[in-house]
Amino acid sequence: MKVLVTGVNGYIGAVLGPYLIQRGLVVLGLDTGYYRDGWLYSDDRRLSHTPETLNKDLRDVAEEDLEGCDAVAHLAELSNDPLGQNNPGVTFRINHRGSVSLAEKARAVGIERFVYTSSCSVYGAGTGIFLDESAATNPQTAYAECKTLVERDVGRMAGAGFCPVFLRNATAYGPSPRMRFDIVLNDLAALAWTTRRIAMVSDGSPWRPLVHIEDICEAIYLSLVAPADAVRGKVFNVGQNSENYRVRDIARIVAEEFPGCEVTVGEVTGDNRSYRVSFDRIHRELPGFVCRHTARDGARQLHEIFKRIQMTPETYRYRAFTRLAQLKYLQDTRQIDDELFWC
Ligand SMILES: NC(=O)c1ccc[n+]([C@@H]2O[C@H](COP(=O)([O-])OP(=O)(O)OC[C@H]3O[C@@H](n4cnc5c(N)ncnc54)[C@H](O)[C@@H]3O)[C@@H](O)[C@H]2O)c1
Repeated sequence: MKVLVTGVNGYIGAVLGPYLIQRGLVVLGLDTGYYRDGWLYSDDRRLSHTPETLNKDLRDVAEEDLEGCDAVAHLAELSNDPLGQNNPGVTFRINHRGSVSLAEKARAVGIERFVYTSSCSVYGAGTGIFLDESAATNPQTAYAECKTLVERDVGRMAGAGFCPVFLRNATAYGPSPRMRFDIVLNDLAALAWTTRRIAMVSDGSPWRPLVHIEDICEAIYLSLVAPADAVRGKVFNVGQNSENYRVRDIARIVAEEFPGCEVTVGEVTGDNRSYRVSFDRIHRELPGFVCRHTARDGARQLHEIFKRIQMTPETYRYRAFTRLAQLKYLQDTRQIDDELFWC
C-alpha cells in the first residue's frame, strides 16, 4: 500500500512516517514546512526511515500529486485552538475547505481509504461525564468547528468506492523530533525539567483525555489497513478510558518522573469546563487496536530525552516548538503572508 501522509513534517507526522514504513507501507509525505526550524533530537534510529516528501501547500494539491497512492492519512492543518482563533478565516480555508478538497481529489483519482485526524475537542465544554461518539458535538473554537465540518462533509462522501475514517484523537503527548511544547503533558514535562517547579494557576480539577503519540500512529495504521466494511464512515475516539486525567493529576505524574520537581495548585476558578471521553468503540470495532502507553510512560520518555540532549530553557521556549509563536514569527518576518502562503 502506498499512502500519502499530509503533515508529515509535524509533531505526529514526523513519528508516523517512519512508523508506517516500518510496518511495510510505502509512504509519500506532503508538508509545507511551517515548523521545519524545530528539530529536538536526531539519534532516533527510526529516523532512517524518513519518507520522500512533497514540499507543498494543502491548498495547492493537484490530482496528479495523488496518482499512484492507494490511501491518504490527512494530518496537515493548523493544529490548535489559539491558531484558529487568531485567524478564523484562514483556519476555515485550510482546515475545512483544504481538507474537503483533498478528499474530493482523492476520490476523483480512485483512492478509497481516507483517514482523517479529528480531535476530541469537538466535544467542547462538557460536564465531566463520559462522552462517546454519539454525544452531540459542541465546538468552542474555529479549530474544533472545522473538525466537525470536515467530518460532516467528508462523511457524506462515504460510499462504495470511498472509505473515510475519522479519528478523534485525545490530546497527544510523548517524544517527537518535531516537538511541540504547546500541548499539556509535553509542556509540563519541559517545565519540570527546566525549572523543577509546576505552579498551577487554577486548582487543576478539569478532566482532559490524553493519548500517546505512538498510540495515535497505531490507530492511523490500523485504520489504513482494516477491512473497509469495518471502518467506512466511522468516527473513533482515540485513546483509552484510563487516560482521562484531571489536569492536576497530569502535573503530579509528571513531577513524579522528574525527581525534585514541586507542584503547587492554585485557586478554584470559574472555568470548570471539563470533559471525559469514552474510548470503548475503538477497542471494540477497530480490529487489533489497543493503547500501549500511559501518561507516566510519556513523562519518563521525555525525561530521558531531555537528559540525553541536555535540554536548555532556551530550547524549551524556542518558537518553532510552539505552533502559534512560529507562525507569528514567519508572518512578522514576512516569510509567509496573511493567508499563510510562503511569500
Ligand atoms: N497533537 C495533538 O494533540 C492532536 C490532537 C488531536 C488532533 N490532532 C490533529 O492531528 C494533526 C497533526 O497534529 P500535530 O500535532 O502533528 O500538528 P503540527 O502542527 O505539529 O503538524 C501539522 C503539520 O501540517 C503542516 N501544515 C499545516 N498547514 C498546512 C498546509 N496548508 N499545507 C501543507 N502542510 C500544512 C505543518 O507544516 C505541520 O508540519 C492535526 O490535524 C491536528 O489537528 C492533533
